[in-house]
Amino acid sequence: MAAYEVIDHKYDVVILGAGGAGLRATLGMAAAGLKTACITKVFPTRSHTVAAQGGVCAALGNMAEDHWEWHMYDTVKGSDWLGDQDAIEYMCREAVPAIVELEHLGVPFSRNAEGKIYQRPFGGHMRNFGEAPVQRACAAADRTGHAILHTLYQQCLKHNAEFYVEYIALDLIMGDDGTCEGLVAWNLDDGTIHVFRGHQVVMATGGYGRAYFSCTSAHTCTGDGNAMVARAGLPLQDHEFVQFHPTGIYGSGCLITEGARGEGGYLTNSEGTRFMENYAPTAKDLASRDVVSRAMTMEIRDGRGVGPDGDHIHLHLEHLGAETLQKRLPGITESARIFAGVDATKEPCPVLPTVHYNMGGIPTNHFTEALRPTADDPDATSPGLMAIGECASASVHGANRLGTNSLLDIVVFGRAAGIRASELIAPNTPLRPFRAGCADKALDRFDRLRHAKGGTPTAELRLEMQRSMQNNAAVFRTNGVLKEGCEEIDRIWGGLDDISVTDTSMIWNSDLVESLELENLMICAKATIYSAEARQESRGAHAHEDHPDRDDVNWMKHTLAWVDENGKVKLDYRPVHTYTLTDEVDYIEPKARVY
Ligand code: FUM
Repeated sequence: MAAYEVIDHKYDVVILGAGGAGLRATLGMAAAGLKTACITKVFPTRSHTVAAQGGVCAALGNMAEDHWEWHMYDTVKGSDWLGDQDAIEYMCREAVPAIVELEHLGVPFSRNAEGKIYQRPFGGHMRNFGEAPVQRACAAADRTGHAILHTLYQQCLKHNAEFYVEYIALDLIMGDDGTCEGLVAWNLDDGTIHVFRGHQVVMATGGYGRAYFSCTSAHTCTGDGNAMVARAGLPLQDHEFVQFHPTGIYGSGCLITEGARGEGGYLTNSEGTRFMENYAPTAKDLASRDVVSRAMTMEIRDGRGVGPDGDHIHLHLEHLGAETLQKRLPGITESARIFAGVDATKEPCPVLPTVHYNMGGIPTNHFTEALRPTADDPDATSPGLMAIGECASASVHGANRLGTNSLLDIVVFGRAAGIRASELIAPNTPLRPFRAGCADKALDRFDRLRHAKGGTPTAELRLEMQRSMQNNAAVFRTNGVLKEGCEEIDRIWGGLDDISVTDTSMIWNSDLVESLELENLMICAKATIYSAEARQESRGAHAHEDHPDRDDVNWMKHTLAWVDENGKVKLDYRPVHTYTLTDEVDYIEPKARVY
C-alpha cells in the first residue's frame, strides 16, 4: 500500500453528517462545552434535510385539541407494531419541547391567525386514537427542512462548533476491545487524509435512497454511515423496510409533499375516481404512506392508471386556488412546473410512488447509543458509537414511517445525542493515545479503489444495482422476485472487482468519490434485499404477496443483517420492545391496521 500521511485531530465528539440530525447534535454538544467537530461531505445547508417540505410534527394543539399520547398511538400504528414503544414514547413526548426550542432558535415557521405555529394535516396523524385527521405538522410553507437546516447551522456557528466541509469519511477506527475511537476522512479540496478522534463518534449520514433507480433522495444519500458500521462488524437493522412516498413527480421522482394532500389535494385514476375512499374510508388520501402507495400501485395494475401508458396517477391541487398554493405550497407549485411541465393551479400533477425513506439503519437505543446486540443481551451498546436520523433505527418508525416524523426524529434524537454525550463525557477527559496504523485498513480500501483498473465504469455498475433494487425490492414483493433480487445483487456485487476508476488524483476526484459511495450503497442494497427475502409476512412497507398477512407470532422482531467484506450476509433477529418508557402510558397492543 502507498504510504499516506495522516493528520490527527482530537475532539470530545466527532459528528459525521451535517443534515438536521448532525447539526442538532453538533449544536447541543458545542453548547454543552464539548469540543465538537462536524465532518460533512457537502456544505451543511446543502444536506438533504434542505429538501424536506411539508412539516415537522408535534402535538402542540395550535389548530385544534391534540395530545402527544395520540401522536404516540398514530406512530405505533403507522409502524405496524414494529416500532419500539419506549423510543416512540420518548420521541412523541419530547416533540413538544423540541419544536418550541426550534421556534426560539429562530426557525421561521408559518403562523396561524393567532400568531402561533401553523400546523397542517398529514397522512396517518389522527385525533383521539384514530378518529379523524388532525393538524399536527408544524410547517414553514413547504420549505420546512430548509428553514430548520439554516437556523441550526447559524446556531452551530454561534456556539463555535468546528466544521470540516467536503471531507469524505472512509471508515471508522475501532479499538481491539470494540470501542469506536474515531474515523478516517479524505479532504477533497487538498487531497489530505485526516484522522478525527473523539470519545464518541456520532453517525448522522442520512439514508441510502440512491440504491434505487427512482427516489426523492439527493445524490449524496449513499448510506455511508450504515456501510461504515457494517464494515466495522456491526449489524444493520430492518433494512427491508423502504418507504415509497406516494407522490414523486412521474418521470423525475422529485417530491410533491404529502402536505399537498394535507391542504386538500386528492388523487384520481383514469376514470376520474377518488379511489382512496375505497382503500381507506376514514383517512382517505391522508392514510399512511404505505397504504396510499399500495392503493396507487393496485389502481395502475388494474388498468386504471393515467397517461398514454396508464402508468401513473393524478394529484389534484387546482381546486385549492392560486392564492392558497402560493401561500402554503409555493415550492411544489414551482416543482410541478419545472419537473412535470404542469401549472398546478390549472391541471393535475402526474405522480407515482417513489423511494423516499429508509426505516431501517444502525440499531440504537432511545439515548442514541449504537447497539452491538448479542444472544445474551440484544440491547448491548457499542462503546463510543452513536447514530441519529435516517441512518439510525431507534426504532421509532418500525415498518413504516409517518410523514413529518422524520424531521421530528432528527430534531428529537439530535437533541438526545447532545444530552447523552454530555452525560457520558466529562470536558477535558484525555483521549486514548493515537495508535500508529489505526487508519491502515481504511486507507487500504481507499488505495485499492483509487488504483482500480478494471473494465466497468462505476456509473454502469451503479445503474445495474439501482435497476435491480427498483425491480426486486419494490412496493409489492413475492418469494420469486426477492430470491431473484438476492441472486442479482450477488452477481452485481461481484462487479466491484472489475471497477475502473479513471483518475488517481487526490483532489476533487469525483470518480473516486462515487466509487467509494457505490461500495457503501452495495452494502445497504445487500442488507435490504436479503432481509426482505427472509421476512415471510406483510408488515408496513414490506408487502409480500405470498404472505399477505402480518404475523405477530413469528415476525414481530427486528431483523439484524451483518454484511461482511465479501458481501456475505448473515441474518439474525432481536425482540421488539413491547414496553413503554414510563408508566404514564400503557403498551399499545397490536391490532388490525385500518385507516
Ligand atoms: O411529504 C413530505 O413533505 C415529506 C415529509 C416526510 O417525509 O416526512
